[in-house]
Amino acid sequence: MEQATGMRHGAIELRLVRSRDARALQHELLSNRAWLQPWEATVPYGSVSFDMRLSIRRLLQQYRDGAGYPFVMEYDGEIAGQLNVWGVARGSLCSATIGYWVSERFAGRGITPTAVALATDACFTEYGLHRMEICIRPENAASLRVVQKLGFRYEGLRRRYIHIDGDWRDHYAFALTREDVPQGVLARWLGGEAPLHAADIPPSDRLTI
Ligand SMILES: CC(C)(COP(=O)(O)OP(=O)(O)OC[C@H]1O[C@@H](n2cnc3c(N)ncnc32)[C@H](O)[C@@H]1OP(=O)(O)O)[C@@H](O)C(=O)NCCC(=O)NCCS
Repeated sequence: MEQATGMRHGAIELRLVRSRDARALQHELLSNRAWLQPWEATVPYGSVSFDMRLSIRRLLQQYRDGAGYPFVMEYDGEIAGQLNVWGVARGSLCSATIGYWVSERFAGRGITPTAVALATDACFTEYGLHRMEICIRPENAASLRVVQKLGFRYEGLRRRYIHIDGDWRDHYAFALTREDVPQGVLARWLGGEAPLHAADIPPSDRLTI
């Protein structure tokens, strides 16, 4: 497995999470409860832990095992949120899934699409992955904008797919493969070449929300 290194575009930096980020991340999570909770992964029989020290330790163990790439997103040197490449499957799949959040005060600056593009490009060109997936609740308009901007392709509706905010929630799945982006996700987006309608939801899959 290739070592993950830091990546940057303008004021936005994506780097591996560190143990010493625990305090800052914990503060962001706790002071953004109303903002984050509707979109936060939960577990069916248990409670969510806000012990960031433990959470980072687990993420870094997954990284060492080759099962994930746990990043933080920084804006002008300040921690803005987390971007986690998880569920890395090697062998005949070579795929993974991206999850992300930014604190409310950092929203709307293009941090997440830039970071998703940087992470996906690194996964395709340096970490040997072939497919990147992002799953989003139909109600999450801001997150749907992220995949629309980058031209991720809509791949389908997964019923009661992920346990979020206390229950099994439907998700839309979006993906890119390496062949979709020979020029790279970031370059394609910045060059205005991301397909405008790749992430469109077909009428048959639109849920009334
Ligand atoms: C979804 C999320 C990660 C997007 O990150 P971001 O860095 O703000 O992304 P962008 O700057 O590209 O903004 C995306 C959209 O968010 C919306 N948005 C912008 N500022 C906003 C604000 N202050 N409040 C709410 N929504 C806002 C806009 O619709 C924007 O699209 P636009 O650029 O076409 O106007 C962020 O809103 C977030 O962390 N939300 C809570 C957690 C979450 O939903 N995680 C994803 C689970 S799949």
